[in-house]
Amino acid sequence: MSEHVLGIDIGGTGVKAAVVDTENGVLITPKIKYPTPKPSHPSAVMSVVNKLIDDNDWRGKPIGCGLPSIIRNNVVYSAANIDKTWMNVNMDELFAREIGQDAFFINDADAAGIAEMTHGQGRGVEGTVLMLTLGTGIGSGLFRDQALIPNTEFGHLEHKKSIWEHYASNSARERKELSWSEWGSELNEYLNHIDLLLSPDLVILGGGVSKKFAKYQSFLDAPFEIVPASMLNNAGIIGAAMNASKSVLV
Ligand code: BGC
Repeated sequence: MSEHVLGIDIGGTGVKAAVVDTENGVLITPKIKYPTPKPSHPSAVMSVVNKLIDDNDWRGKPIGCGLPSIIRNNVVYSAANIDKTWMNVNMDELFAREIGQDAFFINDADAAGIAEMTHGQGRGVEGTVLMLTLGTGIGSGLFRDQALIPNTEFGHLEHKKSIWEHYASNSARERKELSWSEWGSELNEYLNHIDLLLSPDLVILGGGVSKKFAKYQSFLDAPFEIVPASMLNNAGIIGAAMNASKSVLV
């Protein structure tokens, strides 16, 4: 029997949701997206989440939520691209107070990885697979023989006294107005750095820029297979919903 869960993907730029058929890994309602409020305080973001629940007539039904943060035991332990007041927020308490029901919580890139490993480019792939989401930041979801190793944060590896997501994310490309070849070379250097650390068998590139893979593919020479996410930018929503369903155990 298929299970329907509202998947919510909270990001630095937008908050998106759709109802997901978690068994088949597909959206069964149109994706709705609102801009992330500025400043993105937890209560401001929760009012957008409330709107998305109402839009989908989903009160009291199962919800899975992805966040752009380290999530341990449902507590937020990093806030790189959202307001710093998210630090140490207990998501169970926040949802009880602001939404009036419970939900399941996971890092956004781990969620996207779960979706791609089960229904997308990583389906049936053994060995070391890394999902990288190239959006406002860089998120990472690491899998070994299909098992998730959560909260890896490979976008925060040090680079030039800063971190890699400030150079190779899609927002860095837009902010610095880089050409595809300039940004592709940055991304290539980053992927070669990843190779030294992990020797992955497969890297799946997600985020909105995965749609444009053909524009930068030729600049990538890292010695592993590199593919665009097959669920494009919906993987985060689908994986967040799957994390809340019985069809996945992480
Ligand atoms: C955060 C990660 C997140 C990624 C993508 C990074 O800045 O630290 O937790 O997965 O952005 O949203």
